[in-house]
Amino acid sequence: MRAADIADDIQRVLFTDEQVQARVAELAARVDADYAERDVLLVGVLNGALMVMADLSRAMSRHCAMDWMAVSSYGSGTRSSGVVRFLKDLTVDIEGRHVLVVEDIIDTGLTLSYLVSNLRSRQPASLNILTMFRKPDAATTEVEVKYVGFDIPNEFVVGYGLDFAGHYRNLRDVVTLAPHVYS
Ligand code: PRP
Repeated sequence: MRAADIADDIQRVLFTDEQVQARVAELAARVDADYAERDVLLVGVLNGALMVMADLSRAMSRHCAMDWMAVSSYGSGTRSSGVVRFLKDLTVDIEGRHVLVVEDIIDTGLTLSYLVSNLRSRQPASLNILTMFRKPDAATTEVEVKYVGFDIPNEFVVGYGLDFAGHYRNLRDVVTLAPHVYS
């Protein structure tokens, strides 16, 4: 789905599909170079990271392994609740592995700080973070992030895996929604 398909719902397009894909390709080239001597395990954080995992891994020119975790902090609203729920664990043991956590967005940072401390306790050989989007003005917790697609304003955005009440994940572009959508 493209922004033009749902023009009525959209307030502003922040990034087009083409801009997102160009940035993903740049990040993939950096990941390829940084992990040239190491086998990387990409750990996607469901559900939002679905798109960036698919695109990043396919834009890479090296092998990677993939696994998934699911946590939730949002419920169905537009703000972080501050409560992180652990919904699905990894299927592999990460002890001694080179782990790259792949996120769609860092908002308050609560989800990631919870995840990072949980994953560190499993003693991976290395642990880095990649996020497609980050809201610096919303951060309440500092988390060290190695790869950032785009820093964005503190607005609610959807598309490219990011949802509002379960919709818009399959929108290729990244947009803010018109006020009537929320009412
Ligand atoms: C989103 C996103 C991050 C988290 C970021 O997940 O994927 O995991 O919120 O917010 P934070 O930095 O304030 O913790 P969400 O809980 O919406 O689940 P989803 O990926 O299934 O949409």
